[in-house]
Amino acid sequence: MTETKGIVLAGGHNTRLHPVTIGVCKQLLPVYDKPMVYYPLTTLMLGGVRDVLIVSTPRDTPLLRALLGDGTQWGMSFSYVVQDEPRGLADAFVVGKQFVGSSPVALILGDNIFFGNELSRRARGAIEANQGATVFTYPVKNPAQFGVLEVDARGRALRIEEKPARPRSNMAVTGLYVYDNDVVGVAESLQPSARGELEITDLNRVYLRQGRLNVVQFGRGMAWLDTGTPESLLEASLFVQTIENRQGLKVACPEEVAWRMRWISDDDLARLAASFAGRPYGEYLQGLLAEVGER
Ligand code: G1P
Repeated sequence: MTETKGIVLAGGHNTRLHPVTIGVCKQLLPVYDKPMVYYPLTTLMLGGVRDVLIVSTPRDTPLLRALLGDGTQWGMSFSYVVQDEPRGLADAFVVGKQFVGSSPVALILGDNIFFGNELSRRARGAIEANQGATVFTYPVKNPAQFGVLEVDARGRALRIEEKPARPRSNMAVTGLYVYDNDVVGVAESLQPSARGELEITDLNRVYLRQGRLNVVQFGRGMAWLDTGTPESLLEASLFVQTIENRQGLKVACPEEVAWRMRWISDDDLARLAASFAGRPYGEYLQGLLAEVGER
């Protein structure tokens, strides 16, 4: 089986957060104690994805590279590609064609924060078992702001609509998608929408028409958080702070995830901890090593 590659999309104008995002992309902003992009990145990691392409703007790509490097520090591999202007989510497969090569691929939007017990098992399960495409849904109060999926009584996809005025369900399509290698050809065949972008919903519709769109429904016990407005960004930070303070465990800590996945050794983790010595983040990483043998 070919290993599934990953793409993190971290571009866009994010005008709803202006003036905060005039000088820097939203995915580099903090969500409590970490850059936002750590959250989607660790979701891919929990899904077993080690080879990741980061797609961003000419301005932000060097900043993301300064933050994330080549991935080897976490036992991974990161590549970067610049999208000169936002041409839609599905364009990630066009600009990322070379990177994808002949592999299946998981795409995650750089502002999507997932948290919950079922995340790792279900994301990994879907990535390993995927035939065609898989989307992940989540119940929301305001489905009109998202892609919305309608399913039949057996949970099979019937219809998918982008930001419908009258949503047919409360099931939002989240920003995590898994595709077989046909996705590159499908993305290349799409026509830009009225707003001039290659829409991920149009891409998913092609798989739906072919009867190859699978659905994983995340339930109410999971959290899928927004970060698109000042309020939702603050709420996401407060959510992470609440969980971390209660548990003494970090949400979306790439060093920890890499270590628990056994992509880095105890010695590697000790070195990473030392690089943050004297700061709470380093103390946390150091504390993990006390668990040796239990990870
Ligand atoms: C995009 C997709 C939408 C999806 C959402 C998830 O919307 O077009 O289908 O539900 O991401 O975050 P955007 O946030 O780019 O408006």
